[in-house]
Amino acid sequence: MKTVLEFLDGAAVGIFGAGHLGQAVTSALLKAGLPREQLVLCHTGSAKTAAALTAAELGDRAVTPAELLAAAKIVLYLVRPQAANAIAGLPMRPGALLVSFLAGTGLARIPAAVAQNQRVRVMVSDPDTLAKQNGIAAMFPENALVQAMLQALGLSVLVLPSKDRFQAFTAMGPCLPMAAAWCLGHDRPIDHDGLLALGERYGFSDYPEMIAWALEICPKGLAREELNEYLNQAATPGGVTEAVLNGLRDGDAIAAALERGIRRCEELAKG
Ligand SMILES: NC(=O)c1ccc[n+]([C@@H]2O[C@H](COP(=O)([O-])OP(=O)(O)OC[C@H]3O[C@@H](n4cnc5c(N)ncnc54)[C@H](OP(=O)(O)O)[C@@H]3O)[C@@H](O)[C@H]2O)c1
Repeated sequence: MKTVLEFLDGAAVGIFGAGHLGQAVTSALLKAGLPREQLVLCHTGSAKTAAALTAAELGDRAVTPAELLAAAKIVLYLVRPQAANAIAGLPMRPGALLVSFLAGTGLARIPAAVAQNQRVRVMVSDPDTLAKQNGIAAMFPENALVQAMLQALGLSVLVLPSKDRFQAFTAMGPCLPMAAAWCLGHDRPIDHDGLLALGERYGFSDYPEMIAWALEICPKGLAREELNEYLNQAATPGGVTEAVLNGLRDGDAIAAALERGIRRCEELAKG
């Protein structure tokens, strides 16, 4: 966090979109040592989010989007992909960095008032892994400051060789614990060799480590009802995890189901 605080030089980190992931990132940043007065967040004003922020004693950190961008030198963009235009037309601080967490959305598609070389795209595993500090993240392009920040949140960071790898990473990384939990809960084998071959096909040399991570963190021994609850929370309707789980339900082996997720991610990226 020291590098981040030096870069901020007293300015704030802005959580633009304080939803599920935004709240998890907020808690993780505070736990990592970001002073509370150097954190601002915004949302559309929904009662549910306002109540969650009040419960977390963060209600006083909520500001308007314009105020957030005026205060923040690092803007973490955490709206849903459908709301990618939320930042349009709002000035940003000179030298500010935009870190986008939006799935399937290229940096060039975000109408933010910063140059392309002040933008970094990341993909992280689900909010629960942030809370437990055992998550993974991918990043492109490489940025030492963002890498240090993600590592301070307890995430293992993979620098992708190109932006085209985000789709494969999303399905094969963050979705893998859910796929593994489904297999364990339905007495279906987890074809390790098939997964290794998939990793090789998509050029992830770290895939054996990612498989080990997913097998370690995925919930085990859950009753069917608990498993369904865990999977329902993780799978947005129409999203990538849902595509992977549908593959498994249709009888796909785990690697083939993950490939369905990659294809769904590619479809979502086309918009
Ligand atoms: N959830 C995950 O596991 C996960 C993992 C990796 C990446 N992601 C990515 O993270 C992003 C957020 O996902 P999520 O699950 O956290 O979604 P979410 O719970 O719906 O949160 C989105 C937030 O954006 C706010 N928002 C929407 N339009 C806005 C606007 N015009 N101005 C200010 N705030 C606005 C919403 O406000 P209200 O709260 O008032 O509605 C909400 O707080 C997505 O792009 C997703 O692809 C999510």
